[in-house]
Amino acid sequence: MNTLRERLAASASNCPSGVSFAKDIAPLFNGTDVAHMKQVTKGSLDLSSYDSVKIWAAQIYSQVSSGNMPPPPQQAWTPAQVNLFACWISQGCQP
Ligand code: HEM
Repeated sequence: MNTLRERLAASASNCPSGVSFAKDIAPLFNGTDVAHMKQVTKGSLDLSSYDSVKIWAAQIYSQVSSGNMPPPPQQAWTPAQVNLFACWISQGCQP
């Protein structure tokens, strides 16, 4: 049986090469996102940390692809941003 991680990696399409956390993924999270999620999870989900986002990648994907996070008044991620996150996972979560 495929893991969730394998299934969502398979949903990535037309990925640019060399998707990285520093260049592509970290800029998707703003200061409000980072501060709130640190507070809500008592520090365990730090959206500014490569290690933390890598560990939580499948859950983050599930939240942003469903439009559940980030909550209003912020805009939900666009399909292109969600796809870029799936590309990052499909390429093995490069730093
Ligand atoms: C592991 C995935 C995540 C879980 C389980 C999660 C869960 C939660 C929960 C329970 C809250 C509190 C909701 C409330 O007070 O009504 C919250 C708040 C928030 N989350 Fe997340 N979240 C996740 C990922 C994210 C991501 C990826 C973002 C940004 C892209 C984000 C942005 C925010 C913001 C901005 C708030 C504050 C909302 C407010 O107080 O107005 N979260 N999250």
